[in-house]
Amino acid sequence: MTIEHLNIDHVTVEFPTPGGTFRALDDIDLVIEKGEFVSLIGHSGCGKSTVLNVVAGLLQASRGGVVLDGTEVDEPGPDRAVVFQHHSLLPWLTAYQNVELAVKTVFRGAKSKAEMRDWIEHNLRLVHMEHARDKRPGEISGGMKQRVGIARALAMQPKVLLMDEPFGALDALTRAHMQDSLMEIHAELGNTVIMITHDVDEAVLLSDRIVMMTNGPAATIGQILAIGLERPRERVSLAASAQYNHYRAEVLKFLYERQRRPGEAKAEAPAEKTAGESPLPQKSPDLKVVRDKAVA
Ligand SMILES: Nc1ncnc2c1ncn2[C@@H]1O[C@H](COP(=O)(O)OP(=O)(O)OP(=O)(O)O)[C@@H](O)[C@H]1O
Ligand SMILES: [Mg+2]
Repeated sequence: MTIEHLNIDHVTVEFPTPGGTFRALDDIDLVIEKGEFVSLIGHSGCGKSTVLNVVAGLLQASRGGVVLDGTEVDEPGPDRAVVFQHHSLLPWLTAYQNVELAVKTVFRGAKSKAEMRDWIEHNLRLVHMEHARDKRPGEISGGMKQRVGIARALAMQPKVLLMDEPFGALDALTRAHMQDSLMEIHAELGNTVIMITHDVDEAVLLSDRIVMMTNGPAATIGQILAIGLERPRERVSLAASAQYNHYRAEVLKFLYERQRRPGEAKAEAPAEKTAGESPLPQKSPDLKVVRDKAVA
């Protein structure tokens, strides 16, 4: 019998609320292979962060559970590192020291001082932050802070990297650079990644599979789209690729046609991309904004 790498096994999550039990997730069932890059996409409030929190061990499923390499997940652990939308660096520590803190926690006793130093430097190099190793979070840009957060997560050598809208707060150009770095790192290290995003282009560019969630309450998996684009992927040539645009249209169709909320006016999906457009990632509309517009 082969043991699955990561099994999100029939996960249901209910929250007690003053008005009664609120079922946020209903029977989320997904097996993820080692090294796979999976994106979670869905409208605001559908339950994406809740799924990630269960995998991280920050939240217990009401029914079902998560099994990583044969072991049930019931608490947070260094084998599952989390990167949040807003950096969570300690402001009084330098970039180096922020990474060091995680490395010391995970590798105390296993690596010598010199080995730890090399490992911290190696991870800062991976995210191209070695030049700013001695700067504190207040002295570097938002994109640089996210890089340090990613270095810290990678330095823990997690089996699974969990990312909750990691680039959501960044401008389009920085976001594109971060996506490219993440693709490079993923190609080099082969980590399993689950990333939440609101950006359709980001999801298609980075993922092996896009998991599309239905609207809550009782959100579940509505559709899974396997992205068969060859790697390495290059955003400029993909902009003109019919296959890329097909995937993009599939996700948009799911979000704006199938998962339109009852009673809402049809949200205006962005025009289809045509070949030869800007090489920068087309900024997908923030789904939160689109939905709010539709409600208004
Ligand atoms: N602790 C809690 N108690 C009660 N309800 C909760 C709790 N945490 C989340 N919820 C509800 O569960 C649903 C899913 O929330 P979640 O944060 O997972 O959504 P999301 O898809 O990540 O949204 P967004 O895209 O806005 O980040 C929402 O309706 C939310 O209000
Ligand atoms: Mg969320």
